[in-house]
Amino acid sequence: MKDQTNHKAIFIFGVSGSGKSTIGQLLSTSLKIPFFDGDDFHPDANIQKMSDGIPLTDSDRAPWLVRLNALAKENLAKGSCIIACSALKESYRVLLQQGINESVKWVHLNGSFEQISERLKLRKGHFMPPSLLQSQFDTLEYSEAAVVINIKSKPEEIVEIIKKEIVGKAEFGLYGLGVMGKSLSRNLASKGFKLALFNRHVDGVEENVARDFVNAFDELAKAIPFDHVEHFVNALEQPRKIMLMVNAGKTIDEVINSLLPYLSRGDIIIDGGNANYNQTNERESYLKSKEIFFIGAGVSGGEEGALRGPSIMPGGDQATYAKVSKFFNAIAAKDRNEHPCTTYIGPQGSGHFVKMIHNGIEYAEMQLLCEVYGILKSTGKNADEIAAILTDWKSTTNSYLLEITIDILRKKEGEFWLLDKIMDKAGNKGTGNWATIASAQLGMPSTMIATALFARYTSFYKDLRIDLDSKYRSDAAPQFNIDVNELLNAYQFARIINHYQGFQLINSASEKFEWNLNLSEIARIWTNGCIIRSELMIDLISILKESSNLLIHPKIVDQLQNYKSGMANIVAQSILNEIPVPCFSEAINFFNNITNATSTANLIQAQRDYFGAHTYQRIDDDSGKFHHTKWKE
Ligand code: 6PG
Repeated sequence: MKDQTNHKAIFIFGVSGSGKSTIGQLLSTSLKIPFFDGDDFHPDANIQKMSDGIPLTDSDRAPWLVRLNALAKENLAKGSCIIACSALKESYRVLLQQGINESVKWVHLNGSFEQISERLKLRKGHFMPPSLLQSQFDTLEYSEAAVVINIKSKPEEIVEIIKKEIVGKAEFGLYGLGVMGKSLSRNLASKGFKLALFNRHVDGVEENVARDFVNAFDELAKAIPFDHVEHFVNALEQPRKIMLMVNAGKTIDEVINSLLPYLSRGDIIIDGGNANYNQTNERESYLKSKEIFFIGAGVSGGEEGALRGPSIMPGGDQATYAKVSKFFNAIAAKDRNEHPCTTYIGPQGSGHFVKMIHNGIEYAEMQLLCEVYGILKSTGKNADEIAAILTDWKSTTNSYLLEITIDILRKKEGEFWLLDKIMDKAGNKGTGNWATIASAQLGMPSTMIATALFARYTSFYKDLRIDLDSKYRSDAAPQFNIDVNELLNAYQFARIINHYQGFQLINSASEKFEWNLNLSEIARIWTNGCIIRSELMIDLISILKESSNLLIHPKIVDQLQNYKSGMANIVAQSILNEIPVPCFSEAINFFNNITNATSTANLIQAQRDYFGAHTYQRIDDDSGKFHHTKWKE
């Protein structure tokens, strides 16, 4: 199919006599795209009225504008086109661009009353009384979206200006050509978008990065490289759309401040990094005060995903999102129904919040696979044997992380497994930490994320672990016999608890911040492109449509009932054999807690009341009243 993302409908407007048809025709010849004179498309009734000398009303014009909109749509399916039309009012232009907002470009041929009336006088057989021309000027509403060109320039010059401003400019800017920025750029370029690419210049370290990158890939033939911010910004058509792919944190603010002097009202900045959602909220408000719009977009999938199709989680103002959605839709991975794995997430920093929880779920999913590996290793199996077991699991519980784990287990360096050579200290870039903080702030027991995070932190104490190992661990080799099917059940059980907690956390933020997030849609855009894509995620699309609380859905109830005994046994056996299984044990502990109608929190309440007179409610008092007891007479 021919790529339609780059097609444009160029509407040339202005008062009568501004030269719309002349310029339209010249531009059409120069660009080799069709030109249509809007006047040729009036319904018969309008033509009749005009020839009777009766001015058209707004409702007379409506069907004509709708017809021109259809004409533009029809042509956009095939290529670009130019339409001249005296779309003097904003409401007319709204009708003209309905459904094709992103493809429409406006050119306003602007002249003073004097300029136009001089011209009209010179036109043979066409004299408009000054009163009628004045009424056109009275009607004219300027468009913020239009390229405004003064008609005093020669027609050929006007055509060149239009070509430079609309056709010659890049439609999307990407700032920061690290691994992710490069992959996203190639993905965007391969979808037909004309790009401006920027990478900073650092003497001796980052020199000509954008230029060399553009030269290295055929798909970037039309991309324009920069290492000068002002030139980069000026190369973009307005409203500018600039996606930042730089390190989260203060770098983002520095970059924003370096761009600001060159931006214009209505331009859009997209932060595609793993930013903290609170900072995204602040940046959005700060930029709004400068009439610049901001989208915080989580992007998942790593280098390969960014290149072939990531999952994208954009948050911010919905009208701003509408102006950039075509880029996201074009480059995102596709779900099973060929729909893009991206959607409008919600206002403010909700996109970055959802990406943060994605990463939290990712931490726990990774940790669970580590624990499976640890358990199987303790039974004496080597990496290939473990890989073979996990390969069998693919038919039951496949996921991207399971697949890459199998690849990793099989990777050898000479006769040794590479995995055995990798230092067992886990790094992190902060999103699991933020997710844990957010869960505590929201009062949500997202214990799987926190446990996975703390397991990484624990791993980091390598020297201490070596020391304590010699002091505490029994010498006896583990006598560990496990049933692999039971382990599979335990793994599935823990994954459900992990996903339950993750979606509950998103739901609670949605309610607290009034974001109105759609959990099922979030599951859908996580079914491809992202790191936590899995068969389970596909099941969750329909389950979350029926219930935001996974644990009460009959399908999940059945599954957890099935897997439960295996889960308890695996955890018990692991603990008896001194095998650390923090996330597995947390899954069953949390489950035992949340499914227990009578908890031991009555004792907590009593203790609090005892030492601090914090009061407690009674189960034999329906009023909900708080009581205090003098515990010591
Ligand atoms: C993704 C990943 C990606 C990145 C994480 C890793 O969705 O593509 O989550 O965002 O790999 O930042 O985070 P840690 O370094 O904290 O593991």
